[in-house]
Amino acid sequence: MAKKSLYLLISCALLSYFVYTPLPDNIEQPWKLMMTWAFLRFQMHLSGILEILGLPPVWYFFQVPPTSDANVTVTDTLFNKVPVRVFEPKQKSSTMRRAMFYIHGGGWTTGDASWMPYDNLARRVVNKLDAVVVSTNYRLSPQYHFPTQFEDVYDALRWFLRKKVLEEYGVDPARICIAGDSAGGNLAAAATQKLLDDPEVKIKVKIQSLIYPALQALDMDLPSYRENAHMPILKKYDMVMMWSLYFTSDKALREAMLANQHTSVESSHLFKFVNWRALLPERFQKGHLYTSPIHGHSDLAKKYPGFLDVRASPLLADDSKLQGLPLTHILTCQYDVLRDDGLMYVSRLRAAGVQVVHEHVEDGFHGILAFSMNFKAGQRELNKYLKWLEENL
Ligand SMILES: *[C@@H]1O[C@H](CO)[C@@H](O)[C@H](O)[C@H]1NC(C)=O
Repeated sequence: MAKKSLYLLISCALLSYFVYTPLPDNIEQPWKLMMTWAFLRFQMHLSGILEILGLPPVWYFFQVPPTSDANVTVTDTLFNKVPVRVFEPKQKSSTMRRAMFYIHGGGWTTGDASWMPYDNLARRVVNKLDAVVVSTNYRLSPQYHFPTQFEDVYDALRWFLRKKVLEEYGVDPARICIAGDSAGGNLAAAATQKLLDDPEVKIKVKIQSLIYPALQALDMDLPSYRENAHMPILKKYDMVMMWSLYFTSDKALREAMLANQHTSVESSHLFKFVNWRALLPERFQKGHLYTSPIHGHSDLAKKYPGFLDVRASPLLADDSKLQGLPLTHILTCQYDVLRDDGLMYVSRLRAAGVQVVHEHVEDGFHGILAFSMNFKAGQRELNKYLKWLEENL
């Protein structure tokens, strides 16, 4: 009996050790967030084991088939050889509809348009806006590296932004939004920049919507990286790992990025575009001393120039490029390593004269919209977001 109690006690202690994470006071439903994160970490470990056994990863089971419901017709198809999931309102419309081109997150290494949270998000947009949603896939790291992810997304987008295709879906070419979260926000920002000077694409987007986007891989020691290094559901270590995997499987880049020593002297002229001393609002700088990235490994920038490429780091575009960008919606979360990427883009776009609507979620954590089904704060933010789209798209 005593032995049993002891085992139980040890199991409980181990479980709480795995689950418990200190969180800021203003995070709502803290235990739910801890449990969610523990589950995500557990499935990552389990997927590692399954991979060794040659079985599909756990997230394979997050996928839902393309299932139409009473209001929405769902179809998996190809746009320019890129797999996409299209959500269309069932009800006939006498006028042309709005459209959203959505890019899922997952650190360029995971995620899928068929994952339940993304499938659900798309249906919410269709129902609220009576819009067509195209949710694109793209090939992932580490099997494929930059610029494959970007090119897949851009190929699908180009395919969609044609008169003939838009007519087929009954979409108004003047009312199209591109949106994405996290790595998807990165790809959305990069694709929107690329659209500006692509003479072959005549139809442009009305709005770009960047949800806690990753926007630069030059400085990995921003105040948000320092403050939120261990915050669910995205640790600094994991973000840096995914950034480096976007460019290469060479662990040397990851190690150098973790030490913020991956840049070279030749890239010094780019530092001003990510200088948080100049670009972050005062209150986000409190308690932090500025140090610029260290020139450590000049060979890394030569071997893997991707992290200096605007298609991977949209914050590195110069002002003359930014000027032409459309109405931009940016959502940032206080407890997110990527917070300052978003905040700095807000500053840079506003300085370039772009119209920016910025939503900062004071009690928000990374992934809050994707988890909107499970968290009150997520539901609140999703409703706000849908209302904004309804009024502005
Ligand atoms: C379909 O739309 C109606 C009216 O907006 C709504 O009440 C219903 O819940 C929707 N059904 C589904 C499956 O989303």
